[in-house]
Amino acid sequence: MTLTVLSVFGTRPEAIKMAPVIRELARYPREIRSVVCVTAQHREMLDQVLELFKIKPDYDLDLMAERQSLAQLSARVLLNLEPVFVEVKPDWVLVQGDTTTVMAVSLVAFYHHLQVAHIEAGLRTHDKRAPFPEEINRRITSVIADRHFAPTQQARQALLAEGIASGAIEVTGNTVIDALLWMQDQVHQAPPALPAGVAEAIDGKRLILVTGHRRESFGPGLERVCLALHDIAEQNPGVCLIYPVHLNPSVREPVFRLLGDVPRIHLIEPVTYAPFVWLMDRAALILTDSGGVQEEAPALGKPVLVLRDTTERPEGIEAGNALLVGTNRELIVAETNRLLTQPEAYQAMATAHNPYGDGQAARRIVASLLEAR
Ligand code: UD1
Ligand code: UDP
Repeated sequence: MTLTVLSVFGTRPEAIKMAPVIRELARYPREIRSVVCVTAQHREMLDQVLELFKIKPDYDLDLMAERQSLAQLSARVLLNLEPVFVEVKPDWVLVQGDTTTVMAVSLVAFYHHLQVAHIEAGLRTHDKRAPFPEEINRRITSVIADRHFAPTQQARQALLAEGIASGAIEVTGNTVIDALLWMQDQVHQAPPALPAGVAEAIDGKRLILVTGHRRESFGPGLERVCLALHDIAEQNPGVCLIYPVHLNPSVREPVFRLLGDVPRIHLIEPVTYAPFVWLMDRAALILTDSGGVQEEAPALGKPVLVLRDTTERPEGIEAGNALLVGTNRELIVAETNRLLTQPEAYQAMATAHNPYGDGQAARRIVASLLEAR
């Protein structure tokens, strides 16, 4: 029996983490009919990844709209996905992570009595407002899903604690490590083109790579982070900060207003995965509130200061690579300066670990779907 697997995703991180799985599904053309649908909750940032991994979606719902509310986005995913489900009749609907796309896709699948397999299942902060709205998105998805691919043992434990049957959970590692190791190999073989001015800016400097986009930080939190970055650049003439600014207008407005004209801070457009991995690899230090970057930094042996009060990814902290600094201006500056000036403190956070996987997650996920046929 041919297994029809419909992978649905919408944003940059989902695409990066789904790409290794879609590649693995394609290795079984006789056993698996692999269909890809993108909601395009993101547009440019999604297309960058689709192009890089040469993924040609069978369905593109093209749902991104500037400043649409979470309710509008959810409603549009529900309505627009339904005909795809009716036409494809999948045996499995595959979703990844905790975006609004994931939550809404799972709900439509439930309404249509379809089986859902959830990749990156079991991440929890146990604070329903942080990250917002992702903590609730992933909990809703867990309630609906029939198979749960947990990246780590801790994620598995969180699912068990919520009453999910152990037979429905498999610890696979995170597919982001599959993508990262592949990409790292590519950029080592052929360094990618960098945006104009970046190579000159970082030449001879210690690089601090920054990203930030969490909704719970919008407003004063993000402004405090920007002011901290300003202080760091001012106090450290030997460093250069590169900040690829997320396309969300709620991020761009304060970031460009507060940091648009600060020496040694370079605001650039979001870069595709190859230059981003190259920049992570070249960085002395990473400041971020991103989930994916928190997973990638330990694998690259990069200290990462997490610009959040809480994280669903405690493994990086336990491994010693990550530290929570929240959006507290003084703390961000103090911890950054400590790492820049104290080699022992720096070394303690710069040893490579791989708490999130061994690069074989996609293989395990697809094998599991095939076994369950
Ligand atoms: C979304 C996810 C978040 C994930 C993040 C990864 C939700 C609620 N949020 O947040 O979990 O961590 O993606 O980046 O699911 N925009 C563009 N072009 C793009 C992408 C975004 O212009 O390619 C702008 C649009 O104005 C869009 C806005 O950013 O409306 C917000 O996008 P949205 O997907 O709603 O939320 P993110 O903040 O990107
Ligand atoms: N990333 C990228 N280009 C950028 C910034 C990030 O390719 O300019 C990658 C990063 O390596 C990681 C993913 O995008 O794999 C993280 O996406 P994001 O921070 O948007 O989402 P989150 O992980 O927080 O959900």
